[in-house]
Formats: sequence, C-alpha cells, structure tokens
Amino acid sequence: MTLSNTLREIDNLLSCIIMNNDQITDNLTILDNPIKLKCGKVVKNRYFLAPLTNVQSNSNGTLHEDEYNWLTSRAGYFGMISTCAAYVSNEGKAWDGQLGVAEDKHIQGLTKLSNGIKSKGSTAIVQLHHAGDRATLSPQKISATARNDVKAATHEDIKRIKSDFVKAGIRCYKAGFDGIEVHGANGYLFTQFLSKTQNNRTDEYGGEIENRARFLLETIDEIRASVPLNFIVAVRLSPVDIFENRGLLLQDTLKVVQWLSKRKVDIIHLSLRDAVAPPPLENSTVPVVQSIKQILPSDVKLATAGGIWTRCDAKKLSELGSDFIVIGKAAIIHENWPEIIKITNFEPNKPPWTEEALKQVNVSNKFIKYLGKGPNGLVK
Ligand SMILES: Cc1cc2nc3c(=O)[nH]c(=O)nc-3n(C[C@H](O)[C@H](O)[C@H](O)COP(=O)(O)O)c2cc1C
Repeated sequence: MTLSNTLREIDNLLSCIIMNNDQITDNLTILDNPIKLKCGKVVKNRYFLAPLTNVQSNSNGTLHEDEYNWLTSRAGYFGMISTCAAYVSNEGKAWDGQLGVAEDKHIQGLTKLSNGIKSKGSTAIVQLHHAGDRATLSPQKISATARNDVKAATHEDIKRIKSDFVKAGIRCYKAGFDGIEVHGANGYLFTQFLSKTQNNRTDEYGGEIENRARFLLETIDEIRASVPLNFIVAVRLSPVDIFENRGLLLQDTLKVVQWLSKRKVDIIHLSLRDAVAPPPLENSTVPVVQSIKQILPSDVKLATAGGIWTRCDAKKLSELGSDFIVIGKAAIIHENWPEIIKITNFEPNKPPWTEEALKQVNVSNKFIKYLGKGPNGLVK
C-alpha cells in the first residue's frame, strides 16, 4: 500500500469517527428511497448486490437450489439483486458451477430464480458474461489478439458472440428478469478488447478507443434492439487499471461512458477495489466515481463497487455521486447488510470467516470452497 493510500484511509476513518449519527441518517434516507431508471423501472432502494461468482450451479449451467437460496435470502434487503457472471455460450464458459444463460434449457431455473427474487420486492438482473481468453472450459479460447492457445476473434466470431449475448438477453427476459448487465469488466472478453495493451488489432476493432470499444457498443445496441424498452440494460466496466498496467485509462473510460450513455443504457456499473479512491495507477487525486459522475447524464445511473463495509462508507460513496451502493464481500457474510448497517455501532464481520458463520447465511460448501482457505482465501 502506498503512503498516499494509507493517509487517505486514515482520513476516511477519522471523518467517520467524527461524523454524528444524524448526518449519517440523512444520507441513508436517500439510499433507502426508490430510484427510477431510464427504462421506467423503479428499484426500491439504492443497495445493489454485486455480481458474485459462487459456483453453486449444476455442471450444465442449470440453477441449483444452493444458488437460489443464496440469492433469494439477500432479496428484500437489496433493492437490486444481480446474479453471478452467467455464461452466454459454451465457448465463453469460465468455470464449473457457473450459471448458464446459453441454452433454452436454462430458462426454467432462471424463471424460478427471478420469481424468488422479485416476490421479495427486489429488482432482478442477470450478469451476461463471456470470459474471452479466460474461458477455461472452452475448446477454443477467443480474445482480441492471438497468443499461444488463444485465437484472435474473426469478424465471424464477433458476429456470433454478439448474437449469443442477444439470445441470452432474450432468455433472461423470457425468464421474467427485469434486465441484464453486460460484463465489460475484470479482465474478461470486453476488457480484453477495451485494453490498450491486450488489443493490438489493426482492423476496426483495434487501435484508438473508438475502435476498441466498438465490440461492446455494438453488443449493447443489438441487445437494446431485441428486448422491450422497459428492460434494464446495465454495463459493468473496470474504469481504470488497479493492480497492474492493462491499458485501461480513465480518459478512455470517460469516452466509453459517454458513448454508452447515448445508447439507452440504464446503469453504468464501476468495478473498483476502493470505490471512493482516485485511479491507483494514474496521476490524479479525484476519485474515479466523481470523474465519471461529472460527465454522466442524470438519467443514466451510476453504481459503484469496492470496499464498502459500513454505513459511513456508503454515505461517502453516495456523496461522491454513486446512485447505487454495490456490496460484494460484506453481503456474503451479512445477508441483510442494508438493514444491519443501521444499527448504531455496527461492526462488519471482515474475512477470514468461519465455515459455520458462512453456512448460517446460505453459503453452501461449494461456495465456501471457492472463497478459499489459507492466507489468500476468505475462509479460516
Ligand atoms: C467471491 C467473489 C466473486 C466475484 N464474482 C464476480 C462476478 O461474477 N462478476 C463480477 O463482475 N465481479 C465479481 N466479483 C467482484 C465483485 O462484484 C466486487 O466488484 C468486488 O468484490 C469488490 O466489492 P467488495 O469490496 O464489496 O467485495 C467477485 C468478487 C468476489 C469476492
């Protein structure tokens, strides 16, 4: 951790300590209020369960009871519930136990899942995913650029993948979901195209950001044209590089966000490690979320994830302009996080967690194994 990061964390901590409960309550009232999206759908509060891979589906991608219990036990508390990254085609599948939206046989389980989430008053979306060169279960991995066992996507491949996303989106609609989120973050297929360092194509899908964003934008256009206007279309982005230089720069992201905003996208969803921080690898002191909020039209909502554990964290993120507060790890251990943070002196249970504690909150053995034991895992 750099000195400036440490100082910023100390500053955050101090401002939380001096903030009184009334100040926090004011802001939480906003977060508890419903929010209307561009497509017309209303979400009952601003708390958003992050897409969280949990490997609890059956091997053929159909819904398993464990995945149903995991998500529906968080519904009712979080206004917005996202599924994990769900594969749109077998060639984009990343791991065993991943939820599928790739075939019509998946629709039955997805329908049960959307009903279970919506019956508790939450809005339900599916995260549509193609892992690109990280599709470990694919017979032929595809990416922007060829290397070793990875093939550079041809125009035929790009056309087919766009169509896979559209068909998956339609399946989600048929299954009763309120919308979808295209996974354009965290190093998977669309990030591989957006990245300046991973995409060295010379055709219209490579080069300047206008070209590197083309595949994502065309996919969004095709999905939007194939689902009803009141169906939520969200896009998740890694707006900046976090751990290493992968060629994702804020100045490029700002352009991509502007292009997406003109395309009837309801939510831009930022995947960050620290939701309130400036870009870790760029020379800027302005929080990423604030830079993006500044250029976002008011009818496109902003959702931001990364390191939110307490009501004070949520307040700060809201003040920086995020319309939705996205909760990942804290929601694994606290099913009712949006409620429990209202208790004065609430102390989040940070990892590593015990297996017993996880089992009590509908996290099955498979998910516990995935969360991992040992020094780098989240389980004791
Ligand atoms: C176990 C686990 C699974 C995840 N799976 C996904 C996923 O399927 N799709 C995705 O976009 N991000 C995924 N993420 C990233 C989270 O959505 C979130 O952005 C990240 O955990 C930071 O938020 P947090 O600090 O509140 O946990 C995952 C994170 C964790 C810890």
